[in-house]
Amino acid sequence: MNHLKFIFPAGFYWGSATSAHQVEGGDVNDWTEWERANSARLTAEAIRRHANAFARTPDFILKNYPNPLQKENYISGRACDHYNRYEQDFDIAKSLGHNAHRFSIEWSRVEPKQGKFNEAEIEHYRKVILALKKRGIEPFVALWHWPIPLWLRDEGGWQCKKIPDYFSRYTQKISTVLGKDVRFWITLNEPEIYTSNSYLAGAWPPQKRNLFAYLNVLHNLIKSHRKAYEVIKKINPNAKIGISKNNIYFEACQNKIANRLLKKFIDWWWNFYFLNRIKNYQDFIGLNHYFHNRIKGFRFNQNENKTVSDMGWELYPEAIYFVLKDLKKYNKPIYITENGLADAQDKNRGWFIKETLKNVARTIQEGVDIRGYFYWSLLDNFEWDKGFWPRFGLAEIDYSAKGGKTLERKIRPSAYEYKKIIEDSAIEA
Ligand code: FCB
Repeated sequence: MNHLKFIFPAGFYWGSATSAHQVEGGDVNDWTEWERANSARLTAEAIRRHANAFARTPDFILKNYPNPLQKENYISGRACDHYNRYEQDFDIAKSLGHNAHRFSIEWSRVEPKQGKFNEAEIEHYRKVILALKKRGIEPFVALWHWPIPLWLRDEGGWQCKKIPDYFSRYTQKISTVLGKDVRFWITLNEPEIYTSNSYLAGAWPPQKRNLFAYLNVLHNLIKSHRKAYEVIKKINPNAKIGISKNNIYFEACQNKIANRLLKKFIDWWWNFYFLNRIKNYQDFIGLNHYFHNRIKGFRFNQNENKTVSDMGWELYPEAIYFVLKDLKKYNKPIYITENGLADAQDKNRGWFIKETLKNVARTIQEGVDIRGYFYWSLLDNFEWDKGFWPRFGLAEIDYSAKGGKTLERKIRPSAYEYKKIIEDSAIEA
């Protein structure tokens, strides 16, 4: 193959992604309560859980505030104060050439009490959407990016029988009020990552380890998505609706039959099962992609890890090529709704974005209908049970005590490398 240039189609959406709980600040939901109850434990477990990351990058991690050995690291608190600073943040996105932005609506804000909607909070999101549009940035709006309102938690969260009705009532309200200005809707973010961390591994709220609960929640998510799809379509037939699906490149090594079988099974369960179940209820596929997983000697995770992020995730930009090719069979437009890395020193980010996008362009040349790319994330933010130390942002945030915790934004050099690709709509080989 001889590519002189990697070219992107006209009208391609370029942007970055955030989620409400990770950037807004001031939320009250099941996560904020869980953070308060678990921050001491997470601090105590930090050295054991993140030993590899600390060994690789001890200096900057321990110099940063908050760092993983401080309780504050695990409390989302003010986060990036994006709730108040969204105009400034969208100015950054605009200055970086973005023409699309993905964000989420925080369910607990707009429906803090069951069935009682807070109109002022919905109005806030209307302003957010208009602020994007005013800057020529297309909003991609996610309805659920993991936290839930406290009333729903008390009713059993995603295990509750009524959850598809609750989710569709919330969807109905939001898409009625905001639908006029939104074309792209993402109902759910990464159902498998959520269910496996929250109901199998016992790591995230509500910290269950129960196979039946896990399967039940997965099926409730499927039902909820289908219902929400119909609700939005009824209100706005032109809306484009999908989910953000975390797909992994499972690679069978040595061409051994056992490894290939394992790959087949895990591809079916992790990558395709949910998509198959909603295939008549989606207008596009939103792909979130971070992981490569080599299967060797009948074992998972046999990666070479030649280059890794601050979190120890392997940086293997070829993986996205295989994941995208595998999605072609659904015959739907694909938007890459998340892809990125934690890199506080900005050593690998520019390289990683560029190599990833080369693989995306290669896939497009081979006939896969890919229409957008959203880097995760616009800002350094609150990375769930890890807290603030993983730095994913195109813009750095000053959380440091020395910096006066101003939360000042500073654009990283790699953001300009991404901008150059956007401006050229191409990459030189
Ligand atoms: C994804 C999540 C997103 C962020 C990135 C790093 O799984 O959707 O919120 O945490 O990982």
